[in-house]
Amino acid sequence: MDHFSYRDGRLHCEEVDLIDLARLAGTPTYVYSRATLTHHYTRLAEAFAAARPTICFSVKSCPNLGVLRTLAALGSGMDVVSGGELCRALLAGVPGERIVYAGVGKTDAEIIEALDAGVGTFNIESEMEFQVIAALAAERGATARAALRVNPDVDPATHKYTTTGTAETKFGVDLSRAREFFRRFAGHRHLRLTGLHLHIGSPVASPEPYVRALEKTAATVDDLARDGHVIDTLDVGGGFGADYRTGQSILASDYAARIVPRLAPMVERGIRIILEPGRFITANAGVLLASVQYVKQSTAKKFLVCDAGMHTLIRPALYGAFHFVWPASCAPQHVPPRRDERPDLPGLEPCDVVGPICESSDFLAQDRPLPPVARGDVLAVFGAGAYGMSMASRYNSHPLPAEVLVDGPRASVVRRRETYDDLLAHEREPRALTIGNPAADRRDTPP
Ligand code: LLP
Repeated sequence: MDHFSYRDGRLHCEEVDLIDLARLAGTPTYVYSRATLTHHYTRLAEAFAAARPTICFSVKSCPNLGVLRTLAALGSGMDVVSGGELCRALLAGVPGERIVYAGVGKTDAEIIEALDAGVGTFNIESEMEFQVIAALAAERGATARAALRVNPDVDPATHKYTTTGTAETKFGVDLSRAREFFRRFAGHRHLRLTGLHLHIGSPVASPEPYVRALEKTAATVDDLARDGHVIDTLDVGGGFGADYRTGQSILASDYAARIVPRLAPMVERGIRIILEPGRFITANAGVLLASVQYVKQSTAKKFLVCDAGMHTLIRPALYGAFHFVWPASCAPQHVPPRRDERPDLPGLEPCDVVGPICESSDFLAQDRPLPPVARGDVLAVFGAGAYGMSMASRYNSHPLPAEVLVDGPRASVVRRRETYDDLLAHEREPRALTIGNPAADRRDTPP
């Protein structure tokens, strides 16, 4: 369920008319619904309530501060994977101890920032990473907590590029090596290894891969307990699916019905459960508004050329992902009953919805039956709240789009549209590097 709906043929986000909004804010613009963010967060929290989870929102799915503040106000923790995400989570008011820090390539500078912020848990991806974080913590006289990210070698049945829980991916440490890992590193005074972390992929359309991963992991938790280790945290990761097509995704309660019973024995032993949902909360809490620049007919196809493309929303180009696209204003007979690939309505014509980028991968939708559309019309790309703006680029030197957060009848620009000044800001003053003087050159590394 989300708060985007057509009223009298005009798409609204909560109480806000999106044609009016597009006129005011321009396009391309991402629009997020605060009520939908809240609804999705609450639905997941309620479905998993029996496991008393700490929910750590996966910042990478939609890192806008307005979105993070909305979720922080609901009590959400955050899952971060970089110094930049950590900075955003802290700015949003999330206390360090409710932040989990994952990612295979944490730099020394990022680790130090995270130690200084007192992050709750480092999710550890390798032996070498444990040693680096432990040494940095010891140098600073700090004590941090760690969870070992295990790779259970379970196929999440999702896109190859977003599969993370199979043996050939770079993620985690083979589950079979967990006991040896704990034998070597548990008991470290500055990095207390007391948890396990999983994230098998994204999106995971069924609960079954989680069940398989949890069954394997539960056996390891038992082994570790027998070896005398204290395990106090199990982070199940994210990956819960979103409804990109109406009715396509299973409900939070369907995931919970299969997953919670696997967690129950661990909860009974006092193990704290962490969930890291991203897209479940944000995907359908956001649409992308784009304007049609040109309608172009070739011998083979009809193209709607928009001011948004693969630089604005890369998911169709990168993963062949489906996003429902529809005019934000349409005749009564064309109001779509469902967000479906091929709505069964009269007078539709197949179109490719494409952008301005000089690549043939630059499409938002292909061969999609759409009602008649003219130059200047606004299209809405649904399900764009997750991995939309967060993966947007300035390719072909397009400034990044605006982001707007809607709350009932109010709409606020939570990120202004970039200008050409923003595009050029980092190139205005070329600075000669003092080769051979590392101290001087180090100034070029980020704060
Ligand atoms: N936790 C960890 C450790 C992750 O790596 C991810 C996502 C999540 C949680 C959240 O997954 P979610 O609940 O949002 O599915 N760009 C791709 C998705 C990449 C996901 C990367 N990791 C897409 O657009 O589908």
